[in-house]
Amino acid sequence: MITFLVDQHREVADMFAQLEKMEGAKDDKAQRLAEQVVISLVQHSVAEEIYLYPTVRKVLPDGDDIAEHEISEHNEAEQTMKRLESLTPEEPAFWPTVRTLISEVLHHVAEEENSLFPQLRAACSEEQLQELGRKVEQVQKIAPTRPHPSSPSEGAALAAVAPGAGLVDRLRDALSGRGG
Ligand SMILES: [Fe+2]
Repeated sequence: MITFLVDQHREVADMFAQLEKMEGAKDDKAQRLAEQVVISLVQHSVAEEIYLYPTVRKVLPDGDDIAEHEISEHNEAEQTMKRLESLTPEEPAFWPTVRTLISEVLHHVAEEENSLFPQLRAACSEEQLQELGRKVEQVQKIAPTRPHPSSPSEGAALAAVAPGAGLVDRLRDALSGRGG
């Protein structure tokens, strides 16, 4: 599970680096990349909320406090993602919101990799982590990881989940409904 989550962190960090290079751009490409980041982050958050934090609560002595803290950070990032999904790169708030999201998420990533994951490795058996890894991977199969610009199909698939709701809510519903 830890390897898988760290790989996801790297993917998101790569997308952030690409976004930073585009900072200030007002085109569709920036918007699409921001959407990809949001999709990956919601998948990651849901996977962590379903499998990582319950494990943290169970196996670490101060697990409840750690889990609450991480979940409240997820909520903050999710509010930022919701602001972002309502903006286009032409709007002045778009890039500052991207910046806020990047700093919130990188903080979360550093905290998990430097503190939480090492504690978890020490507290869990290898088999336990492997079993959780298989489950966490299932969450990613429920929704498309990477919207491909040339395939409009998954926009339609997501729209079917909860018409009218924003991307973050639709994804969260789709992912946690099946996974939970
Ligand atoms: Fe994470």
